[in-house]
Amino acid sequence: MDKLVIAGGYPLHGEITVSGAKNAALPIICAALLAETPLKLSSVPALRDVSTTYQLLKHMGVEVSADASGNVALDASEITSHEAPYEMVKTMRASILVLGPLLARFGHARVSLPGGCAIGSRPVDLHIKGLKAMGAEIHIEHGYIEASAAHLPNKRLQGARIFMDLVTVTGTENLMMAATLADGTTVLENAAREPEVLDMAECLIKMGARIEGAGTDVITVHGVERLQGASHQIVCDRIEAGTYMVAAAMTAGRVKLHNARADLLDAVIEKLREAGAVVEHDANSITVTGSKELRSVNIRTAPHPAFPTDMQAQFMALNTIAQGTGRVIETIFENRFMHVQEMQRLGANIEVEGNTAVVRGVEFLDGATVMATDLRASASLVLAGLVARGETTIERIYHLDRGYERLEEKLTALGAHVRRVH
Ligand code: UD1
Repeated sequence: MDKLVIAGGYPLHGEITVSGAKNAALPIICAALLAETPLKLSSVPALRDVSTTYQLLKHMGVEVSADASGNVALDASEITSHEAPYEMVKTMRASILVLGPLLARFGHARVSLPGGCAIGSRPVDLHIKGLKAMGAEIHIEHGYIEASAAHLPNKRLQGARIFMDLVTVTGTENLMMAATLADGTTVLENAAREPEVLDMAECLIKMGARIEGAGTDVITVHGVERLQGASHQIVCDRIEAGTYMVAAAMTAGRVKLHNARADLLDAVIEKLREAGAVVEHDANSITVTGSKELRSVNIRTAPHPAFPTDMQAQFMALNTIAQGTGRVIETIFENRFMHVQEMQRLGANIEVEGNTAVVRGVEFLDGATVMATDLRASASLVLAGLVARGETTIERIYHLDRGYERLEEKLTALGAHVRRVH
């Protein structure tokens, strides 16, 4: 299994380009299932979760032609299976995103129930409740969600008003996709406002969908008869950008990120400035200048536009070496502090009580061997390794390969001393 070995203490300097967003690419690739002609995407990041999604769609009969530059054509004109098997769903929860499109276009879907995952139980009850409100018959059998619209007129889902009592990103995306081909109008209330939801809506609109309000918490979808392929460029990855921004700040370096949008990162930028970093930007780039005298910041995760849970671990890493005490409150996932124990192995001073971590800054971290547990936790260990004295070895980095495109290459380009050991 691959490991990442980082020699700490080198400030990051230089310029890199941020990749397309994983969390926009995955749902949009699944949206290809809705179209009768090929969907063409660009800026698709080369990530393990993306290739898993390709495998899943190929399993259903979708023709996938991807090149090495992030372009892919997805042809779902002929589908041979409506099933997402356990073997694929268990490796990637986002596989649940095929449920809405399959059911909407073919009137049937069989998708394995995702199990628990490292960061919590993460149920999909709101996806199911929403589809039921649109008239679907749904049973859970042998660990699979069996969904059918066969009893509905023309096997089509029916538009409905759906209130989600929790903000769910993939739930909103699944229901938005389902609603595009439903009979009548669907109103999604308390919808997720994440930029990736908006990016998906923009792609669906190019495919012929009629969607209003994406990016707000009320999304209205007027169902249409059919959708066609289109061309769409995936929005930039705000979490990847945010991770490199924290890296620049922590190492007291200066990094310019191209293909980075400050308007998607308001909460992160505000916290970096509060910590003492300098953040400058124009329409398509962000430059962060760090400091040797960072201050701890208090963080409270919440749905967009508030502070993203996917940046929580990285800011925890920042707090470990900042001056003062920072309180980190995680409100989205119940078990998202697994990086804490690993950071403690590097000498961090962190106390956890319930969903709150109190981080007291220490003068320095010391390199050690640590284990990555989930995607963003792994990223936070990389950040810690970049500033720790001596060598930090991160094991189980397959998590990083799920979500950070060419991580070592980008870090090396910025002057970090990082190598992958097979
Ligand atoms: C997405 C992102 C993930 C990010 C998360 C929160 C993708 C592929 N993944 O995950 O990177 O960390 O949003 O911003 O886009 N919940 C329910 N019932 C449901 C659905 C969700 O109780 O039916 C709960 C979850 O357990 C969690 C909260 O709602 O506590 C938010 O989860 P959700 O927004 O659905 O996360 P994902 O869409 O899985």
